[in-house]
This record gives sequence, C-alpha cells and structure tokens, in this order.
Amino acid sequence: MTPDTDKASPGPHPTDTAGGKEGAVIIYHSETDHTRAIARKAAKLIGAALIEVRPKYPYCRLGKYLRGGEMAAFGLKEAITPAEIDISPYSVIIVGTPVWSQHPTPVINRAVTVLEGAREGCEAIVFATCLLHAGKATTPVREALGQAGIPARKSYVFPNRAPVADCAQALAGGVEALRIERKP
Ligand SMILES: Cc1cc2nc3c(=O)[nH]c(=O)nc-3n(C[C@H](O)[C@H](O)[C@H](O)COP(=O)(O)O)c2cc1C
Repeated sequence: MTPDTDKASPGPHPTDTAGGKEGAVIIYHSETDHTRAIARKAAKLIGAALIEVRPKYPYCRLGKYLRGGEMAAFGLKEAITPAEIDISPYSVIIVGTPVWSQHPTPVINRAVTVLEGAREGCEAIVFATCLLHAGKATTPVREALGQAGIPARKSYVFPNRAPVADCAQALAGGVEALRIERKP
C-alpha cells in the first residue's frame, strides 16, 4: 500500500457535527474484482452501503483497453448503470476507482456527476486501485466531488499487491478519523 501523493485541495471543512450516527456508502467501479473486493470488505468493516456502478454497455476485453483506456486518459465519461445515484441517506461518500491510463475510469468520471441529494456537511473519501502507477488518478474524482459540494478529505492508492484486508482497514480508519474530526 502506498500513501496517495495526490493532494488536491479538499475545500473548507464543514461545521456540521452530526457524524457518527449517519451512514456511509461505497460507490465503486470494478472490472476485474480488485476494487470490488476492497469495497466489499471495507463495507463490512464500516457498516457501509455498497453501490456498484457499471458501464451501460459492458466492455469487451479489448474494448476495455482500447476504448476504455483512451477515454480514461482524456477524462471522458461513460454511460452508466445506475444513471443516477441517490446519496441523500449518507454523510460519508467513499468512491473507489480502478486506475486506467493513470486516470479514474470513464465509469467513475460519470458516476461522480450523477450524485443526487448530497446532504449539507457530507464528506468524501476516494480510493484508487492500480497495478503500479496511479499517476494523479484520484485528482479528477476529488475535484468533481468538490464541485458537487462534497469535499474529499482523504484519498488512498492501493496497488494490487496490497492485501485486501489491509486496504479495507485503511478505509475504515479513514472513516473513523472523519467521524472523530467532526465531533464538536
Ligand atoms: C484499461 C486499463 C488501463 C490500466 N492502466 C493502469 C495504469 O495506468 N496504471 C496502473 O498501475 N494500472 C493500470 N491498470 C491496472 C488496474 O488499474 C488495476 O489492476 C486495478 O486494480 C483493476 O481494478 P478492478 O480489478 O477493480 O477492475 C489498467 C487496467 C486497465 C484495464
């Protein structure tokens, strides 16, 4: 596991102190299970809901690398299912993306633009899974969340060699830290 060196500004910290008793959700995309495994394990640890976002038109093996990888490199957005994501029940939004061409996937690029009903004081954590080089893959996700009024407070990069349990534990620790920071 490597620390995320990608330090986009998280924006102002909310004064909302409702923290601990509110829910968390993990919104993720995964084609080959790495991100899914971490999301599922973390959801159990945190007690978070899970929302898997998929391409509306599934990638074939080659299309994922050619079309998907190129779209990712250019920051483009894919058509997705679900088309809208209701986050109104949640105060902590965790977004997980595989790294494609050192960027977030086109599926996640779209997902962060269709979040509906963000609560005041809602905060985000972003994580990316990669083989070796994440580049600045968490930055566009953090920026899009910031534009949606959901400041991303923490981000993580998990290389595939990192044990799933460790990655999930890191996310759970991040959520706990947010909750402690939000206490009056
Ligand atoms: C189209 C494509 C592009 C990728 N580009 C990168 C990359 O730039 N850097 C990297 O370290 N891994 C890259 N990978 C590997 C994935 O980021 C990594 O295996 C990730 O954990 C896969 O997540 P998933 O199993 O949840 O789909 C790429 C994989 C694909 C399919």
